[in-house]
Amino acid sequence: HDAGKYSPTLGFDECREAIAEMERELFGVTLDIENIIVGQSSTQLTHDLFITLANPGDKILLFDPTYANYPGQIKMALRDAKIVRQRVLDVGRWEYKSEEEMAEDFKEIYEREKPKIVLFPSPDNPSSQVFGDNFVKTIADVCHEGNSFMIIDYAYKTQCFITPPSYFSWSPSDYPNMIAVHSNSKWGRGLGRRLGWVDASPEVIDAMERVQQCSILCPDTMHQFAFMAYLKRALRNGSLKRYLEEVKEGYRKAAEVTIEAIKEYLDMPCLVPQGGLYTLMKVGEDSDEFVKRVLKNTGVLFIPGRGFGESLKEAVRISYGPHVENTDVIKEGFKRVAEYLGKS
Ligand SMILES: Cc1ncc(COP(=O)(O)O)c(C=O)c1O
Repeated sequence: HDAGKYSPTLGFDECREAIAEMERELFGVTLDIENIIVGQSSTQLTHDLFITLANPGDKILLFDPTYANYPGQIKMALRDAKIVRQRVLDVGRWEYKSEEEMAEDFKEIYEREKPKIVLFPSPDNPSSQVFGDNFVKTIADVCHEGNSFMIIDYAYKTQCFITPPSYFSWSPSDYPNMIAVHSNSKWGRGLGRRLGWVDASPEVIDAMERVQQCSILCPDTMHQFAFMAYLKRALRNGSLKRYLEEVKEGYRKAAEVTIEAIKEYLDMPCLVPQGGLYTLMKVGEDSDEFVKRVLKNTGVLFIPGRGFGESLKEAVRISYGPHVENTDVIKEGFKRVAEYLGKS
C-alpha cells in the first residue's frame, strides 16, 4: 500500500508543489520544486545543511542571543568547527542594537573570521525579535561576496506580529546563497509531527539530497500525504489563512498579557515580542540561581538565559506559548513571583 512505501529522498513532488504554492500564497516567495527538499524536521535538516555546506573545521557565525540548540548541533555535525558570536542585544539598555550598528559589527566580524555559514531564526528564539531588512540585506550581500551561506530559520515565520520584512518573500533564485529552513512544528502547533523543509538553490538541494540519503533516506510518507492533502484543501477554501491569523492573534494577545504582567508585578526590563513565543526579562542576578529558587518557592518556571548566549547570563526566557488558551495563568504566575520577591 502507498502509505507504507518510501517516498523519494527529496519528498514527493506533489508535496513539494503544495509547499511551493503555500509559500507563494502566504509570503509571495517564488519557488519551483527543485528549490525544495522535505525532511523530518528543521532540526534534522539544519544538521544535514551543516554537513552539506561546511567542512569540519569551518567557522559558523551565530548571534548572541540565539537558539540554544545550534551550538550542540554544530559540534555534532562539524566536530572541529569554530562558533563565532556576534552580540546583538545591548544588555545595558536592554534593547536590540540599531540595524546600522549590527551591520557594522557584522562586517567587521565577517572580515576577520570569514565564516562559512551565518545562521539565525526570524522571528528569533529566545528574543522574539525580527531582524530588519537593511541588516539582513547586508548579511546576504556580504555572504554572496564572500561565498558563504546565510541560513534563515523560519520556525516562527507565520507568527510575526509586526509588518513582515521584505526578506520574508525573497526567493533562492534572487539570492542563491540564502537558505530558508522551515519547521512544521510551530505554525501548525504540532511539535511532535516531525516534518520540515528547506528552500534553496537547486545546487544546494541537489547536494542535500545526497546527504539526506545517508541521514534519514526519506521524509515520512504518511505525514507528507496528510500535509499535502491539507495544504491543497486549506489553500483552496481559504481556511489556511484564517487558521494562521487566528493562531497568530492568540500568540500576540498572550505576548501582550505577558508584557503587561511583567510591568504590573515585577517591573523588570523585558523585550516586546515582534513574533514567536517568547520574551526575555533581565533579572539582574545569575539567572541559573534565580530560576532554581523561584521554581522551588513558587512553582513558576523561567528558562535560564545562559544557554542562549553569554549576554543572557542575568536574564530569563519566558514562554507564553503554552498559555494562549488561558492567559490568566500568566498573570497568576507573575503575581506569585512578585509575592515571593517581596514586590507586591
Ligand atoms: C528557532 C528554532 N528552530 C528550530 C526548532 C526545532 O524545530 P523542529 O521541531 O522542526 O525540529 C525550534 C524549536 O523550538 C526553534 O525554536
